[in-house]
Amino acid sequence: MRPFSIASAALLISCAVAQTYQRLGGCPSLGCVFPPDRAEFLPGQYFDIRLEVHSPVNGSEARQGQPDPDFKFTIAKNGEEAVIATEYFDIDEPQLERWNFTWYEDLFAKDVQKPSLVNVTSKAYRRVALYEPGEYEATLTYYGQETTVANWLVRDLTDKRRAKNVVLFVGDGMTTNMITAARLIAHRSINGKYLTKMQLDKFPVLGHQMTHSMDSFITDSANSATALYSGHKTTVNALNVYVDSSKDPFDDPKFETISEIFRRRYPCAGIGIVSTAFLADATPAGLAAHTSDRGQYDHVISAYYEGLTKYEWTEWQGPDVLLGAGAENFAANKEAPRDYYELFSEKGYTVSWNKTALQAAPNDTKALGVFSTSNLATWLDRNVYQENLHNQSNYPDGSGRDTDDLPGLKDMTLKAIDVLNARHAEDGWFLMSEAASIDKQMHTLDYDRSLGELLELDDTVRATIEKLAALGQLEDTLIVVTADHGHGFDVTGSVDTEYLQAQESDRDKRRAIGTYQNSGLSQYTVGGPKALRYSEGVHFPAHWDPRYALHAGVVAFPDHKEDYAVHQDGPREPALKRTGLDGYFASYKDAVNGIIINGTLPVDVDQGVHSLTDVPVFAQGPCQELFGGVYNSVDIFFHMAECLGLAEHGEN
Ligand SMILES: *[C@@H]1O[C@H](CO)[C@@H](O)[C@H](O)[C@H]1NC(C)=O
Ligand SMILES: *[C@@H]1O[C@H](CO)[C@@H](O)[C@H](O)[C@H]1NC(C)=O
Ligand SMILES: *[C@@H]1O[C@H](CO)[C@@H](O)[C@H](O)[C@H]1NC(C)=O
Ligand SMILES: *[C@@H]1O[C@H](CO)[C@@H](O)[C@H](O)[C@H]1NC(C)=O
Ligand SMILES: *[C@@H]1O[C@H](CO)[C@@H](O)[C@H](O)[C@H]1NC(C)=O
Ligand SMILES: *[C@@H]1O[C@H](CO)[C@@H](O)[C@H](O)[C@H]1NC(C)=O
Ligand SMILES: *[C@@H]1O[C@H](CO)[C@@H](O)[C@H](O)[C@H]1NC(C)=O
Ligand SMILES: [Zn+2]
Repeated sequence: MRPFSIASAALLISCAVAQTYQRLGGCPSLGCVFPPDRAEFLPGQYFDIRLEVHSPVNGSEARQGQPDPDFKFTIAKNGEEAVIATEYFDIDEPQLERWNFTWYEDLFAKDVQKPSLVNVTSKAYRRVALYEPGEYEATLTYYGQETTVANWLVRDLTDKRRAKNVVLFVGDGMTTNMITAARLIAHRSINGKYLTKMQLDKFPVLGHQMTHSMDSFITDSANSATALYSGHKTTVNALNVYVDSSKDPFDDPKFETISEIFRRRYPCAGIGIVSTAFLADATPAGLAAHTSDRGQYDHVISAYYEGLTKYEWTEWQGPDVLLGAGAENFAANKEAPRDYYELFSEKGYTVSWNKTALQAAPNDTKALGVFSTSNLATWLDRNVYQENLHNQSNYPDGSGRDTDDLPGLKDMTLKAIDVLNARHAEDGWFLMSEAASIDKQMHTLDYDRSLGELLELDDTVRATIEKLAALGQLEDTLIVVTADHGHGFDVTGSVDTEYLQAQESDRDKRRAIGTYQNSGLSQYTVGGPKALRYSEGVHFPAHWDPRYALHAGVVAFPDHKEDYAVHQDGPREPALKRTGLDGYFASYKDAVNGIIINGTLPVDVDQGVHSLTDVPVFAQGPCQELFGGVYNSVDIFFHMAECLGLAEHGEN
């Protein structure tokens, strides 16, 4: 029998173990409750509930095509009697919805294009909240006696506000291994002792967060941003919703983010978003958007512009400060359907397209800064290999000229603080600042550029602490530096790049790699033409192209060539398509005399991927003690929210 033709049911029932494909993540049986089992809430946090009942049932032909339309849903608090949800929340019974969807049971089914069809009945309860801390049992009863129980926890958190401001730095994809490597290339040591340290090394509290998704153990930046900002684990590609099985990317059950809750509870609080990525990208988007598809860029920009007011979900009207790149999603003559520059300025934002304009922008006015198309050029290109900034046609006004006056993460972050502090010194503010290209450059195996971004983040953290001290805000500001996930990066020695270049065969070239005692010392910190570039106390490598370079790599990659030397001609593109052939192959021009390294990922993948590793959390300021130890990514939301006093106690 063909493996896919399964008299459907037995296999469907056991599909909780499906690995490559799942019928619907978070839904182990034919009755689905979202928020799912083990969901946790801040007291008073708004959320939607989505119920689904799926057919077929257990292979029973009789029931095919008729998912139960008469399912019931109850809530029971702390072991008390179950109450019908509409009564519990005092809301009207929602409309019954019906749809169907298809999925593949496994790769065999996909190969022969035999999807399985599921018919669905569903209801959504919009914008409810639980105020009393404790355990809740949410029970869906369907097909008569079948039940799906979701155990929910409303955390018992103090509502005493301890921090006026919060700065959350996200080093996208940043791991402890990368920090170790960045320290090695930027800080001098003598006989195994560092003379200077990174700013991150000086934080009083260090924690460790687990980044898993709700329904896969590897996460992406949308899902992990959601965990950090909303306290809910969800699915890859989802922003602040649980993913239901309907096609519509905007009808999934939403939950409130820290930015929305902070603004709702403190209408005069400020929100700032800074990123070196395009601003529609997941990590910045996670503070405003609610969609199961992070690729809905116009939804993201419109959520910055007007919140989710058209869904009657929040009154929140977007951030005070929004600085980054991705002009193609803002300008009318590009991919954006509306001219957001005009719309934002009509709403009172100053719009800046370069560093000079950003710095001249008034501190007491809302600020939009979009400095290039796509992602911001990397620190290495902006500061060391500036020729690479030419011929990019990336000026944010859509004119097709080059940018030549770009701010970096530090410039944007410090300006954001000036604006937030000028506008919200009384009620406080929340700022998220993302070093996005740590991740983006890791993906393309460009370790030098990635570590440059990490060092820029460290420099930005240092400058932020100084700025807050100068503004008299340091004592009242919680600073958290963390990542959203990692990449399997590490360093295992050094490479004599001259020797490698001089050898003919790949096997001989590998003799250039020095491990253990032959790894030697970091050559990045001594001499070099850029040695005098940075003043004392600001640490970047003295030069980036030493003869003895890092022997660095990741655990999963496409076919590529490697010569271990810095890519002076611009960001790397390790794997390319070849005409007439399927999949990606090593790019020969990426490292002309390098070693061929055959890939470990499927051949249709052209870059590295995220990895399982826990990631570090650095904290200082009010509530810093909450951030020590080993915990889940969602705890970062709960700790920040608790510290801002956002828990709202009361009666349901
Ligand atoms: C599915 O089949 C099993 C075994 O035949 C039975 O125990 C179970 O109750 C059935 N479930 C449903 C939903 O019909
Ligand atoms: C879904 O519903 C259709 C009728 O709309 C029915 O023909 C089909 O058998 C059903 N499929 C399943 C898997 O329940
Ligand atoms: C699935 O739903 C679509 C409409 O959304 C409908 O046209 C189609 O017939 C349905 N398929 C089945 C098998 O019921
Ligand atoms: C910076 O932006 C301002 C305002 O749009 C513009 O007048 C100026 O020419 C720009 N400078 C550069 C170097 O592009
Ligand atoms: C913004 O505030 C800073 C002080 O933090 C000040 O140095 C700067 O001049 C101000 N900028 C403007 C345009 O007022
Ligand atoms: C930019 O492109 C032009 C034409 O394609 C070329 O002549 C010029 O050398 C390029 N400049 C740089 C800095 O690459
Ligand atoms: C190794 O990589 C080269 C270059 O991309 C490719 O041509 C070759 O097919 C790869 N070998 C395997 C076993 O994947
Ligand atoms: Zn990534």
